[in-house]
Amino acid sequence: MDKIGILIVDFGSQYTQLIARKIRELEVFSEIVHPDQIGEISLNSYYGIILSGGPNSVYDKNSPDIDLDLSKLDIPILGICYGLQLLAKKFKGEVERSKKREFGYAKFHIVKRDKLFKGIPKEIKVWMSHSDNVVKLPQNFERTGYSQNCKNGSMKSKNGKVYGLQFHPEVYHTDYGKDILKNFVFEICKSKKNWTSNDLIKRIVERIRDDVGDNYVIGGLSGGVDSTVAAVLVKKAVGERLKGFIIDTGLLRMNEGREVLELYNKRLKLDVKYVDKSKTFLNSLKGVKDPESKRKIIGRLFIESFEEEAKKFKKAKFLLQGTIYPDRIESKSTKGPSAVIKSHHNVGGLPEKMNLKLVEPLKDLFKDEVRMIGLKLGIPSDFINRHPFPGPGLAIRIIGEVTKEKLEILRKVDAIYIEELKKNSIYNDIWQAFAVFLPVQSVGVMGDERTYENVVALRAVTSTDGMTGDFYWFEKEIIQKISNRIINEVKGVNRVVYDISSKPPSTIEWE
Ligand code: XMP
Repeated sequence: MDKIGILIVDFGSQYTQLIARKIRELEVFSEIVHPDQIGEISLNSYYGIILSGGPNSVYDKNSPDIDLDLSKLDIPILGICYGLQLLAKKFKGEVERSKKREFGYAKFHIVKRDKLFKGIPKEIKVWMSHSDNVVKLPQNFERTGYSQNCKNGSMKSKNGKVYGLQFHPEVYHTDYGKDILKNFVFEICKSKKNWTSNDLIKRIVERIRDDVGDNYVIGGLSGGVDSTVAAVLVKKAVGERLKGFIIDTGLLRMNEGREVLELYNKRLKLDVKYVDKSKTFLNSLKGVKDPESKRKIIGRLFIESFEEEAKKFKKAKFLLQGTIYPDRIESKSTKGPSAVIKSHHNVGGLPEKMNLKLVEPLKDLFKDEVRMIGLKLGIPSDFINRHPFPGPGLAIRIIGEVTKEKLEILRKVDAIYIEELKKNSIYNDIWQAFAVFLPVQSVGVMGDERTYENVVALRAVTSTDGMTGDFYWFEKEIIQKISNRIINEVKGVNRVVYDISSKPPSTIEWE
């Protein structure tokens, strides 16, 4: 029987998802599991295993581990960063805390061009993020590379089954990172391609049909790419038996509710109803300043509004969710080693009392895979390529309390900003751009009058996945025009600032 793909064990690195995505780009399925789940998995049904990086030190009391005798495993293993150190420890080498942290770029020298480094130049620039080092290799292992602060920067077992890298091949900044992973996946694990785009839609639609049978499905559509693609897939599978609604939280961008409804009903021929809940949301957000409290309130209200609507569809037995793979991993990580930076409200919490089963057509897909499918399904490309918009909407782009007045100002600012990005044909060069309403007033002068008005910040980031990112470097004329238009056209704003932080250490959203 064909094997499943590559299994990734997550020790809490911010980059674990990137490993999975990079492997899927090679058209081989990969999935991420928590170290505690390893006992329940039939490992030999995978082509190989990757142990991810993580924030711990292998000798810490509570550092994550896997309950597995690696020497008895039949399939290849690659340890990355913490994964390498864990392998070194498990095979009885030595790991030590080093005085010199190595974070960021390092020059890496390959001393043995084995299968993992096949075709890779002897000297490459790599991305490091560690303070522990393997100081003594386990028996029957050999060193294959080093960097200035890391004597044993990579290793392999002499039987060619176990490999370790101190650097991160999965991050964009590592030269030849994808080629190294490719070598692991094909040269070492001998994987077969099983994740091609062509049969994905077919596979998903067949699965929905099998799961749903003759029943009805309801779905609360957010107007985002995920829920839209999910809905179109379900429509393909069950036709008119999909009933949807959009809940307007009052936290959407300018004209967004109306435009999305039109797209759904007219272009995509989905049976979708519009439900205006903006008053309820705004009332509940009164006086709330803390970002996580805002997220929780919005999440709760969303579910309540949802239940209220769902009850009206008595025949429905299934509930559509646009959950994508990263949502599931992030939700799981709250219990696991990965540090949760912000709570996203999209997943979980739907009370079981609703008595509905879930349909989650995208649950195994990454965002770029969702986009690819969306285009194939005929969803317009300007919709598919829209910048991501967070579930809690403009509420987390107004720092402090959300009010109707602030929302109105922010909507106008945002509309001008995005319009200019599109006019100047740079919208698609930017991964996400938006404005933030700051809780600051500043002095200005308009005509001969002193003003004392609001400040907005503009953010534009380049990224491939939202996990890391840098600020976008505007041409002076473009950003000048944007600032100028905002101050002239939006009453209540007299100052525009531009956010020049990268992620990390900042996040993309301000809250
Ligand atoms: P951060 O701010 O964490 O954002 O660097 C990374 C990506 O996630 C989006 N984001 C959210 N999406 N609910 C969402 O659905 C949320 O609570 C939330 N917070 C951040 C953010 O817009 C960016 O694309």
